Amino acid sequence: MPPQLNELAGRIPQRWRQRVPMRLRNALVDRLGSPREPFDPDAYPARVNLGCGYDKRPGFLNVDLNDFHDPDLVGDVRSLPALPTGRYTEIVAQDVLEHLDRNDGPRALAEWRRLAAPGGKLTLRVPDLPGVLRWLQREDTADHHRTVIHHMFGTQAYSGDFHLNGFTELLLCDELFRAGFGAVEMELRDEWLWEVEAIAGGPPLGLVWGPGFYPAEQGRRWAGAEAELVICSGAEGPVDVALNLDPSRHPGAQTRLTVEGAAASETVALEVHATPVELRVSVPPGATRFSLRTEGEPATDGRVLAFQTAGRAALA
Ligand SMILES: C[S@@+](CC[C@H](N)C(=O)[O-])C[C@H]1O[C@@H](n2cnc3c(N)ncnc32)[C@H](O)[C@@H]1O
Repeated sequence: MPPQLNELAGRIPQRWRQRVPMRLRNALVDRLGSPREPFDPDAYPARVNLGCGYDKRPGFLNVDLNDFHDPDLVGDVRSLPALPTGRYTEIVAQDVLEHLDRNDGPRALAEWRRLAAPGGKLTLRVPDLPGVLRWLQREDTADHHRTVIHHMFGTQAYSGDFHLNGFTELLLCDELFRAGFGAVEMELRDEWLWEVEAIAGGPPLGLVWGPGFYPAEQGRRWAGAEAELVICSGAEGPVDVALNLDPSRHPGAQTRLTVEGAAASETVALEVHATPVELRVSVPPGATRFSLRTEGEPATDGRVLAFQTAGRAALA
């Protein structure tokens, strides 16, 4: 049945449809298909999983462009007029943004901001272009290069499964700030994917756990002997930021941690349970990079894990 006719048929209340004799109803359905029921967003949770693919999540309204994924709603995540403004407390778009045309990324983020409830959380995952290139350089075999190129450009199994865009932490923060998201936190997974959380209406500030950090439990991260932390600011001029780090020592031999960046430098002695370090810095618009390094013998662990830390950045 043509989609418009199908939608129209879906608007005829069930009880009226039942007045049509059963045999005629069945013949119509055989010929034209079942009428599609109108979509009622209130019948679904206030959490939405955009571009769900096969990752359909219970407790979420699952949306995808392709109906072979059997989502709750077939729709284009760049524009979802069937969904109400300001309803969704959690919006997930995992491995989706890179599948949109470069010019459509900002449009999609603006649409997701429209959907978000005040203070709602957006969770994204996208490839990190510099991370993909670091990964590529790690091994000089054709098989390795082929694997990395596959991840860089997408599986390409069907329309909507191609990567059309690439990201850096700075670009992603910039686009999130422009769309009205803030209080961004990003960390690298498998060294080439950004996992991102952003808050609708949050301050235009991003804390980015860069290369050298590895996810650990309960908001803490492991770090190598050298690691990079980035603060991205979307403010128009310099802003004062308090960077709070709560490091603790790996039970190896490292004893001192030095944090340098934005004309600030601090060296702290690391205890197993260290006292938090607060760095107050003035950050200009864009990305400000901090390097962290430890002194002392490296740990014997294969990943050269040196210390563990949790942290946050806030406008001072
Ligand atoms: C790599 S898959 C990710 C699937 C899932 N989120 C996951 O993490 O496993 C990308 C998904 O985005 C969907 N997609 C691509 N462009 C879309 C669009 N404009 N609107 C809705 N879905 C789209 C594709 O159909 C595909 O299911």
